[in-house]
Amino acid sequence: MPHADSAMIPAGIDKQAFWIHVHEQLSYLLAGQRDWVTNLANASSLIFNSLMAFPEFGDGDRMVNWCGFYVNAELFPAPKLAFSSETQTPQPARLLLGPFCGKPACQLIHVSPGKARGVCADAYCQKKTLLVKDVDTYPGHIACDGETKSEIVCPLLLKLPNEGSERAIGVLDLDCLALSGFDEADREGLEKIAKLIVDACDW
Ligand code: SME
Repeated sequence: MPHADSAMIPAGIDKQAFWIHVHEQLSYLLAGQRDWVTNLANASSLIFNSLMAFPEFGDGDRMVNWCGFYVNAELFPAPKLAFSSETQTPQPARLLLGPFCGKPACQLIHVSPGKARGVCADAYCQKKTLLVKDVDTYPGHIACDGETKSEIVCPLLLKLPNEGSERAIGVLDLDCLALSGFDEADREGLEKIAKLIVDACDW
């Protein structure tokens, strides 16, 4: 099957079946590749284009207008060049824009302790999915696109062999043009997809 066909969605399926289908297609797409840049690029494209092909999210008012990743800057190949003057003392985490589909977005999100940091930084720190029905009411929300009304951010959680707990390494972020664009079925589907992606890559 051509790679592009993996974003085709069977007609008439409900949302639970939609996320199961996307998960299955993504597992095929990631098989045999461990590079996180490559895998996150294909994952953002698959999720975004699958949503465009799904009536609930692909049409006008309820459209998902952004789908992509922010990843801890330490994991990028060259952050030490860009931030070399800051490397002497431990710094709060920074999330750098990773692969995405949609309009251009803010490049860098600071995960400052104890402040209104926006949805991505909060999901990253709390290590839990945040479902925001109205972004204008969210403390510190970073508006990359004034048209976005609601958002869901799911952390990428990595379990290291020698550590009992999971470590956040980035987030998967989706924006929607409608208020209350996402629900519990999306949370459940995206959390499984986030785990699939983390397990498919070498970090
Ligand atoms: N709204 C996010 C920033 C990322 S953009 O939505 C793509 C936030 O508040 O962290």
